[in-house]
Amino acid sequence: MKQIQNHIGKLNGLIIIGATALVGCTAGGNNPGIEYAPNMYVSEAYEAYTQTKEMRYNPHGMTMRTPVEGAVAMGQLAYSEYEEGYAESAAWTNPVAATEANVAEGGRLYDINCQHCHGKKGKNDGGVIKSGKYPPPPWDGYQSDQIKNLPDGQAFHSITFGKGNMGAHGNVLTPEERWKVLHYVRKLSLGDAFVYAPEGTADDLVQVKGKTFEGFELAEVAQADLDMVNAAMKHVKFADLKYKKFKDESAIHLDKVATYMNQHPELKAVVAGHIASDVKVPGLTENLSTVRAKTVCAYLEEKGISADRLTAKGMGSEMPITSNDTKEGKETNRRVEIYFVK
Ligand code: HEC
Repeated sequence: MKQIQNHIGKLNGLIIIGATALVGCTAGGNNPGIEYAPNMYVSEAYEAYTQTKEMRYNPHGMTMRTPVEGAVAMGQLAYSEYEEGYAESAAWTNPVAATEANVAEGGRLYDINCQHCHGKKGKNDGGVIKSGKYPPPPWDGYQSDQIKNLPDGQAFHSITFGKGNMGAHGNVLTPEERWKVLHYVRKLSLGDAFVYAPEGTADDLVQVKGKTFEGFELAEVAQADLDMVNAAMKHVKFADLKYKKFKDESAIHLDKVATYMNQHPELKAVVAGHIASDVKVPGLTENLSTVRAKTVCAYLEEKGISADRLTAKGMGSEMPITSNDTKEGKETNRRVEIYFVK
């Protein structure tokens, strides 16, 4: 009996598969047939470019409206800062510190965006130029005096807006990335004579992120105290990429920072969160780095530091202190730092 039931079960299965295949086959014209999980084909959520009659006030009936005139995409504000002509651009200086990490990142971007023309070592022997179908730059390579003497600002202008036969890169690289690429161009140009900036000092941060830290001035704090606080903050680790709660063992280290700040009521702190890569965390509207900085601030508040002495800043993934290529590197780059300000 059991066996017969089994057979019937199998038969049923076959019939269902067969029937589904048949019904599925009736698709055609305006009939989609039977769709498995139709929401995957026809989105219920609004899609930016979908055009419908209902959206009659939007251009082309799109779900999306065109941005207000003059609107600037997030993170691109600096784009409009660099508007002047080539001659004036000679006055612009590179605001990004030439740390090893920044130059390395510049190199990575150079290999993607520039080396096919300028060559791996900046000798204008990339594949595009070698093919003979594209005229080379009118100088030998980055090692030529022409480039060595070219002001940073003008090089940046050319990278941003293009020059002669070179296209613009302002639309593919952010201003910060372009400055980093320029550091790498200088490295290729100068070789061993290139001088790196010291890694990750507080001054770099304030300079690099001049905008973000606007209105703050670093406070004078004894080096030993800074070392203590920096060492403590190195132990502040978060449980997982996704979680905004730090690990329990971080608390004792944060307590040291709280005690120090309670003993120094004249100091205020910028609490800067960093992540290894820009991840979208479901349910989070703010950048994870901001959320983490805020979590640290909230904890310090709990320990008696008044909120007006604490400013949380999310630095995103823009300021790695080491390469993100290894797991350890990423772990090091995921961090929260404290800068004492007046
Ligand atoms: C399609 C080939 C091509 C690509 C890609 C390219 N360049 Fe160029 N680049 C040129 C040519 C050609 C010139 C010479 C322009 C001139 O003076 O007429 C030039 C000039 C320059 C100069 C000198 C600018 C000046 O003001 O005299 C710099 C610096 C430079 N490139 C850097 C870069 C960087 C950095 C990238 C990548 C982000 C890049 N280039 C991508 C072809 C290219």
